[in-house]
Amino acid sequence: MLRALKVSAIFHPAVEFISSLGTILVVGFGGYLAYAEGLQVEDIVAFLLYLSLFYQPITGLANLVENMQQSLAGAERVIDILDAPVEIHDSPDAIDLKDVKGEITFDHVSFSYIDGIPVLNDVSFTCKPGEMLALVGATGVGKTTITELIARFYEPDSGRILIDGHDIKDVNLSSLKQNISMVLQDTFLFNGTIAENIAYARPEATREEIKEAAKAANIDKEIEAMPEGYDTLTGERGVKLSGGQKQRISIARAILRRSPIVILDEATAAVDVETERQIRDAINSLSGKRTIVAIAHRLSTIRSAEQILVIEDGTVVEQGTHEQLIKQNGYYARMNDIQKD
Ligand SMILES: Nc1ncnc2c1ncn2[C@@H]1O[C@H](COP(=O)(O)OP(=O)(O)OP(=O)(O)O)[C@@H](O)[C@H]1O
Ligand SMILES: [Mg+2]
Repeated sequence: MLRALKVSAIFHPAVEFISSLGTILVVGFGGYLAYAEGLQVEDIVAFLLYLSLFYQPITGLANLVENMQQSLAGAERVIDILDAPVEIHDSPDAIDLKDVKGEITFDHVSFSYIDGIPVLNDVSFTCKPGEMLALVGATGVGKTTITELIARFYEPDSGRILIDGHDIKDVNLSSLKQNISMVLQDTFLFNGTIAENIAYARPEATREEIKEAAKAANIDKEIEAMPEGYDTLTGERGVKLSGGQKQRISIARAILRRSPIVILDEATAAVDVETERQIRDAINSLSGKRTIVAIAHRLSTIRSAEQILVIEDGTVVEQGTHEQLIKQNGYYARMNDIQKD
């Protein structure tokens, strides 16, 4: 970029300089002719005007060449992305997932991003429709990876992942993704209004439905307090909102999609205790209706989960409800003690 700017900083002044030389030439040589051979002054003025007419397209052409180079460089990168081989395909006889109830089963799933460095090792669990499954564990143990496997961003090395009893390998990818809403660890908002951001997955949603979703995600009052309400612009990547607001807007987005499976990746990391409570209420308002897979570092968020999995080094080391895990007196009980304050 710096090099391109340097070159363009030389290029444009050079074009200007050379065209100015022409003017000097006309004035100088024309002056001489007027003096020595009686050329009319009007002719010289006319010539100068012709000259500026002549230079306009030339400068235009120079700019055009520069723009073209820039566009070509951009196009090359876009084409690189378009040409990237797709690793995960629909199988030839893929079926559509219909009327999904939301049962998720991991059947001895192992997975590694890079050969030889296992991330998940023999993970098995079943999460019934409408239940909340919570994944807890230290950072880097593979929690986000588990959620990415459910949405089939990656293929497990061995084992099976089933939704309502269908191996997701045999399911049409777009129908799988239609049934899963994800609130990602790093929320993504695009530059637009808050309403547009919430309605991203269902552009046809009415303002009423958007407000309802915002209400369920506990963000409605804050949005209404903004000068332009739902038409407030979020800025590039949502820079004009706080971390907690962005997270609740993406929860509202997930709620509006009404998909039977909702994945919440650490949706409460960036918020204070009061907001965390509001988000917990938002999650609880979903529970029973959707299957929720929630990752949280704050154990209070997921206390009511029907099933809590403690992950360590890519395997499930503890499994049960809050009460059962407290009784087991292991990692979960220790973390719970630390966080009690
Ligand atoms: N795209 C990737 N390519 C290679 N390795 C990866 C990739 N994504 C994650 N990993 C590795 O896999 C392991 C598990 O990562 P994962 O994101 O699932 O952790 P996590 O439990 O979600 O952690 P956190 O609590 O910090 O979010 C980590 O060691 C990480 O370095
Ligand atoms: Mg993670």
